[in-house]
Amino acid sequence: MTHTVGEQHQLDDVSYDQLRQLVGLVDHDASTDPFPVRALDAVVFVAGNATQTAWFYQVAFGMRLVAYSGPETGNHDHKSFVLKSGSARFVINGGVRPDSPLLDHHRRHGDGVTDIALEVADVDKCVEHARAQGATVLEEPHDVSDEHGTVRVAAIATYGETRHSLVDRSRYTGPYLPGYEARAATVQRPEGAPKRLFQAVDHCVGNVELGKMDEWVDWYRRVMGFVNMAEFVGDDIATEYSALMSKVVSNGNHRVKFPLNEPAMAKKRSQIDEYLEFYGGPGCQHIALATNDIIGTVTAMRAAGVEFLQVPDSYYEDPELRARIGEVRVPVETLQQHGILVDRDEDGYLLQIFTKPIGDRPTVFYELIERHGSLGFGIGNFKALFEAIEREQERRGNL
Ligand SMILES: [Fe+2]
Repeated sequence: MTHTVGEQHQLDDVSYDQLRQLVGLVDHDASTDPFPVRALDAVVFVAGNATQTAWFYQVAFGMRLVAYSGPETGNHDHKSFVLKSGSARFVINGGVRPDSPLLDHHRRHGDGVTDIALEVADVDKCVEHARAQGATVLEEPHDVSDEHGTVRVAAIATYGETRHSLVDRSRYTGPYLPGYEARAATVQRPEGAPKRLFQAVDHCVGNVELGKMDEWVDWYRRVMGFVNMAEFVGDDIATEYSALMSKVVSNGNHRVKFPLNEPAMAKKRSQIDEYLEFYGGPGCQHIALATNDIIGTVTAMRAAGVEFLQVPDSYYEDPELRARIGEVRVPVETLQQHGILVDRDEDGYLLQIFTKPIGDRPTVFYELIERHGSLGFGIGNFKALFEAIEREQERRGNL
């Protein structure tokens, strides 16, 4: 089935109220914000085979192909596929010419996130503020145009070889950026399949080196005016073997949330150390996708072959867990059947589940999250979760 661009916009439509529930928005006065961020514009990936990776996200993640750039459209360096699910946009790039810089990036890091692009109202003002705060400007603000209008873009460097593009698309009506052509879905959705499997990106996590977490927290506060949301240190998130520290920064209304992890000293190697070794430095570790029906999402993804971390039955049989979580919208038995974790805090509860790494290297993975009032990240689950991650790490010989 094909959609016109207008219909696609309708399918993508996620209202502010839906987002408030899905990702836990809070009120915020943007007028005093030195770096006002409207939204997450896109998560941009490099893949060893973008053609097949774009297919994976359509089949396994239920995303819709909406735009394309490549040799056929005059871009001879690489292929680029743009996929959407609700307000979430992924861009998958892969080098075509042997001398494409994307292939060098891929050789160093493997499949992963190159750019967490942010939509801002005033690119120049943001870059000016970022530069004054010491950020590295990778691309100066400039206009790019085609028959659909003009986009103003710039880019600043964040951890490792990751960047934040800054995009103002308020004067643009095309399917993504100038140079991209609208593309219709190439994959038929199964009969009776949900319209989409997730509606928004909830958060993107960065892994940084030992001792660097506070530097990056400070960087996001200074450069982007982000605020501290939460922190997890010490025994909170240590297992018997490995440990990590995590702090979360977000923009004013919590639309964009970046947890930052660093390894902590422990008896064995932290999962963050494993990531840093195999990614070849700091990078994006996981992306949390917000869904309003985690059971339906997990069921559809599993049917398509996506593998999730196994949670031991003891997690669900623990009387403390049952006492702590109280009433949630599905019985604990149903959560257990699907391997979904649950956590509750003073604001509400959340349901969450984690995939195994999706590429060849033990690096990038996904989280699915269904929020019911909770603005947290599932701290009550960290220990059970990390033990599950360590079982996988041990199987890979990396613990
Ligand atoms: Fe997460």
